[in-house]
Formats: sequence, structure tokens, C-alpha cells
Amino acid sequence: MSTSIAKTLFPGVAVVTGAGGTGIGAAVARAFAAAGCERIAITDLNEVTLEQTKQAVAAAHPNVRLLVHPGNVADDQFADSFIDKVVQYFGRVDYAVNCAGVLGQPLRSAETSVAEFDRVNNINYRGCWLSSRAQLKQMVRQDALPSHDSSRSPQRGAIVNVASQLGIVSRPSAPAYCASKSAVIGMTRSDAIDYSKDGIRVNCVCPGVIETPMTMGNTEIREAITPAIEIAPMKRMGKPEEVADAVLFLCSTKASFVQGHAMVVDGGYITV
Ligand SMILES: NC(=O)c1ccc[n+]([C@@H]2O[C@H](COP(=O)([O-])OP(=O)(O)OC[C@H]3O[C@@H](n4cnc5c(N)ncnc54)[C@H](O)[C@@H]3O)[C@@H](O)[C@H]2O)c1
Repeated sequence: MSTSIAKTLFPGVAVVTGAGGTGIGAAVARAFAAAGCERIAITDLNEVTLEQTKQAVAAAHPNVRLLVHPGNVADDQFADSFIDKVVQYFGRVDYAVNCAGVLGQPLRSAETSVAEFDRVNNINYRGCWLSSRAQLKQMVRQDALPSHDSSRSPQRGAIVNVASQLGIVSRPSAPAYCASKSAVIGMTRSDAIDYSKDGIRVNCVCPGVIETPMTMGNTEIREAITPAIEIAPMKRMGKPEEVADAVLFLCSTKASFVQGHAMVVDGGYITV
């Protein structure tokens, strides 16, 4: 008699954008490795911080095969070439997490230049679309992997886009950022509808205020986010690992009936 017990919820290949350093993407890459995923591809614009993530994963999980490839998600060609490289190296893409993003300058619309509006949207929204489009193109042509639970359907792929609580509610002086994150939520829902028939799930997470270089980077930003921390019932910043756990759930076959969802991870902020 043989009882097969899956060793990991993540037998496939994980891809993470915005994975450099100590932010949410890096936490997601580390979390995949800790959860037993042994084939992980990471990318970021910043080669130095991407190397830090590589070192952290390799030191803690020497069994993990890592593909490290820096690049700009706002570049029209990059996403397709990155996914081609992942497929050449690992053969497929199962869990894709699109984290690359920027906050933008703290300005009201009348003071915001077209160049700044385009920069934020080209990275946060268009870059997320380019990335997920490349991932979907690969996922539709690969075989599905079995679920952890044989009574459930196999999964051909799962995408998690990192939006924000600011895609649901807004804050002052962030029109381009808030709109870019609302756009990611809308895009996620539309792709979820289109790719359900292919056995692909597309969801997003909407983090609240999370302790990462994006929020801790300078005094001006730290002061700007303090009121949001006070408003949230849990009255603290979240940790990148707390977002990573939500991301991994959505990627896993435990989330087999979760489709087109915008999962808020914000200490209760939007409930107030
Ligand atoms: N920290 C928060 O409070 C918070 C809240 C809600 C949503 N988010 C979102 O979470 C995601 C991760 O942010 P974070 O907080 O970990 O910040 P972070 O700055 O640590 O991570 C963002 C990463 O994206 C990379 N990046 C920026 N532009 C890029 C580009 N053009 N191409 C490729 N990579 C690029 C950066 O180099 C960085 O490593 C972002 O999309 C952000 O908008 C963060």
C-alpha cells in the first residue's frame, strides 16, 4: 500500500517580480523557499538588492534552485524575455507574484507632472499587466499540476498581483498611485474571468501599511503614513512576511475556489 503525502504545497515553479531587498517581494521569495518550493525565479530593477535576496534564500535553503534575472517591468520587452528565460531554465511557471512597484511623489493632481503620472502607472499598472500577460501566455500552454487534494481540479497556474489598500480607499496626495492600484484590482478581476476556463486563478492582495523600504525610506513618508497606522484597528504596521503568507495561500491549491479576489491585509484599516 502506498499513501502519497505531498511534501510541499508548491511542487511547481515560482516567479516573483520586485523581489529585491527586504520588501514584500523578497519576503514572498523567502516564504516560497521555506514552504518547500525548490524552483524560484526572482527579478527586480535593483541588481544589488536582488543579489541580497538571492544570498538570503541560498543561505537558508541551499536545496532551492534560483534563477536571478534583473530587469525593468515597465520595459515592453522585459516581461516576455524574463518568462522565456524561466521556461528555458525550469520548464514552466506555476505561481507568479507581481510585486514590483513605486510609491510616487506625494503631490496633488494639479502639482503632478505627466511624466510622474506615467512613471507610476507604467511600473505599477502597465508593468503588472505586462508581467501577468507574459505569465498567462506560458500558463495556458502548459499541463496542469495535480492539487494537494486529489478530489480537487488540477491547477494550470496561479497569479497574485500586489495591489494596495489604496486601490480600495484613497489617501491624500497620491492620485497616480491610488489609481494605479485600483487598476491592478480591475485587471485582476477581468483576467480571473477570462482564464477560469483554463484552470488558472488570478487574485490580488491589498496590503495596508507594511514595514518595507517603501514606507521606511525617508522621514517625509514615515510622517505621512503615521495617521494611517493610528486609524487601523490593529494600530501597527504589518510585516512583509504577513503579506507573503496571504500571497502563498492564494498561490496554493488550498485556494482552489478563490478567484478574482482582492484580499486585504491591512490590520483592519478599510473596515473603519
Ligand atoms: N509597503 C507598503 O506599505 C505597501 C502597501 C501596499 C502595497 N504595497 C505594494 O507592495 C509592492 C512591494 O512594495 P514594498 O513595500 O515591498 O516596497 P519595496 O520598495 O521594498 O519593493 C518594491 C520593489 O520593486 C522594485 N521596482 C521598482 N520599480 C521597478 C521596475 N520598474 N522594475 C522592476 N522592479 C522595480 C524595487 O527595486 C523594489 O525592490 C509594491 O507594488 C507596493 O506598491 C506596499
